[in-house]
Amino acid sequence: MNAPALDTAAAESLLAFWRDAGVDACFEDSPVDRTHVAPPPAVKAVAKATASVVALPVTGDAVAEARRLAAGADTPAALAEAVAAFTGCPLRDMGARQAVFSRGPADAPLLIIGEGPGAEEDEQGLPFVGKAGKLLDRMLAEAGLADRAFITNTVFWRPPGNRTPSPAEQAACAPFVERAFFLLKPKAVLLLGAAAAKSVLSTDEGIMRLRGHWKDWRLAEGNVSAPVLATFHPAFLLRTPMAKKAAWADMLSVAARLDPPAG
Ligand code: URA
Repeated sequence: MNAPALDTAAAESLLAFWRDAGVDACFEDSPVDRTHVAPPPAVKAVAKATASVVALPVTGDAVAEARRLAAGADTPAALAEAVAAFTGCPLRDMGARQAVFSRGPADAPLLIIGEGPGAEEDEQGLPFVGKAGKLLDRMLAEAGLADRAFITNTVFWRPPGNRTPSPAEQAACAPFVERAFFLLKPKAVLLLGAAAAKSVLSTDEGIMRLRGHWKDWRLAEGNVSAPVLATFHPAFLLRTPMAKKAAWADMLSVAARLDPPAG
């Protein structure tokens, strides 16, 4: 019997769905010894589809360099220049056109952190300007938060094939994210999706469990802290409309943090 043709785009989309839902490992009911059997077509197709996901290691020197550059920036604009000068994140040399750091006012009371730039962000040099960004903007506007958010990502160069940034790539860029937090001193922080939540909150917990629960994000240095909330990534919402209700509740919760109801 011939195996059905596998649609690579559908497989990638399904993988992205599970990844956003916090599933990062696949197991079958009983163990399979794949050292003696040829992988089935579906496994081969997934391996091919994810061939571009290989992440290079990041050295301690790179993180130290990021810290040094970030510490020298005293405004978000200077921080953007420091990011552009940073050569220690391997994503920079993996096909990205330019660094994508932030958009939004430098005195915004809300800091939003996404995963990493996609194709349109890479092209325009601004975060969240594609379809997911448009949904994010609509939600912010409806919640009365338009122009009140400084938006950035855990990494500043587009990962090849829009794969999830590796923890090492996020670690290389983290000093800039932390510096943005330090400079803004926001009243609240919103983390979009599992990759941002895991990186900022240093946890392996999936987004399904994390979302909707306020936590405290405290910088080790600098005595800065703020309430932080993880929610679903807008790209996940575009694929999973059922999740919009929960994400909207999260957005309203953020709005209430910024402007607590009187009384
Ligand atoms: N997704 C992200 O996580 N960040 C962007 O900037 C765009 C899409």
